[in-house]
Amino acid sequence: MVARAPVSARARRAVLGAVLPTLCLLAGCAGPGRLTVAEHAPDAYVVLGADGLALARVLSTRQACGDLELDGRSVPMQLRARAETIPQRPTRSLAEDSKPSVFAEATCELPIPPGTQTARFAGRDLPLPKPVVGRIVVIGDTGCRIKVEDRAFQACREPDQYPFAEIAERAAQWHPDLVIHVGDYLYRENACPNGHPGCAGSAWGYGSDSWHADFFDPARALLAAAPWVMARGNHESCARAGQGWWRYFDAAPLVPGRDCNAAVDDEIGDFSAPYAVPLGDDAQLIVFDSSAAPAGLPPADGHLMHEYATMVQSISALATRAGHSIGIDHHPILGFAAVENPQHEVELRPGNAALQAVFGNANEHLFPGQIDVLLAGHVHVWEQLSFAGRFPSQFIVGFSGTAEDKVPLPAVLPENAMPAPGARVETFSSWVGGFGYMTLERTGNASWDVRVWSRHGVAVNRCQIEGRLSACEHARID
Ligand SMILES: [Fe+2]
Repeated sequence: MVARAPVSARARRAVLGAVLPTLCLLAGCAGPGRLTVAEHAPDAYVVLGADGLALARVLSTRQACGDLELDGRSVPMQLRARAETIPQRPTRSLAEDSKPSVFAEATCELPIPPGTQTARFAGRDLPLPKPVVGRIVVIGDTGCRIKVEDRAFQACREPDQYPFAEIAERAAQWHPDLVIHVGDYLYRENACPNGHPGCAGSAWGYGSDSWHADFFDPARALLAAAPWVMARGNHESCARAGQGWWRYFDAAPLVPGRDCNAAVDDEIGDFSAPYAVPLGDDAQLIVFDSSAAPAGLPPADGHLMHEYATMVQSISALATRAGHSIGIDHHPILGFAAVENPQHEVELRPGNAALQAVFGNANEHLFPGQIDVLLAGHVHVWEQLSFAGRFPSQFIVGFSGTAEDKVPLPAVLPENAMPAPGARVETFSSWVGGFGYMTLERTGNASWDVRVWSRHGVAVNRCQIEGRLSACEHARID
């Protein structure tokens, strides 16, 4: 059952208008066949970094990194991180629920020069970036949650309870030009205790076995389908899975001390500089690292806020490079989370206070005018908001595998509910309790056709983005 959104006539005209044809709500909108993926092929993937530079990464158990074949020419890959066992460090868990991180493979890499037509590794073509990106898959919060502190033991072995592999395959069948992951890849932090057959025998901790179980194995089809833009979640902060983050995903060089291996270096390892990925036709992504953002408001004069103030300056400079930007981080800045209070009433929690404060110091609408849309995760739902005034639209895409949030968001927001001071909501849509992925299909320089897909590849909602305005067909999917 779906509820109608309380969309103003102006917003509906501006955004939906005549461009919204009949909804595709039929099963099988994405083809049901499975991709053919080479069994036992080495994990090889492409991460997009600053200025859209494609970085080939390969996980290797061999002594040497081997060669990449670029337009038929063999080029040796470089070692990014060697196979090693990193001694146990303080983590977010108790010491008895933590262990050393064993990385059984080296990470090898090679920047792929712009204009390269083919890149092959071990007989397989790697996906390369397109000059104009028209089709984007967005996923987020994909790991299987095993955490003693929260008594959370998701049934990783049951596809109905942990469907990331199916979601990745369905999303790959949509044939994206680009995949965006909005963060939180690794959730198997502690050992699955006795009495929980759904997660019995799972890998755990922050080493490569957990990364394979939580990410590389289920994501395989989607890694082969397109280059990825990776945002860093709080689960990839240094006190959690930050070691893997630096080895596998961060687009910056991996330098000693900036690897989360020793807690004394975390003030360096917990931050990466923002960067822009061009999409062609005067549009770009701006990716920024919010992984260390706390739930509350930290001291204004502390290290964290100093780092974030520098980040905001860099984002403002990057935004001048294109007329239309999509901001990507992990924490929603202009979204809601729903919690149930002790009186069993639903309360709405606003966006991240630390990020609102630091962006608000630079701009009363938080973001430069060129940033039209924000993509985030962290809240385990799908959500869309569009605002009166100059705030960008916010989409939350935290529903791609990790156990879902249960408290429903309202179909109609309470009067004056705002996720940030002054951010008056004009349209709002959500899906709580369903696993899936989101797609963006470009219809103009600053306009996108958005679809929300279930884990089975069924389109359950459709939205339009026009500049910083967005609106969806349905206010709530029940
Ligand atoms: Fe998160």
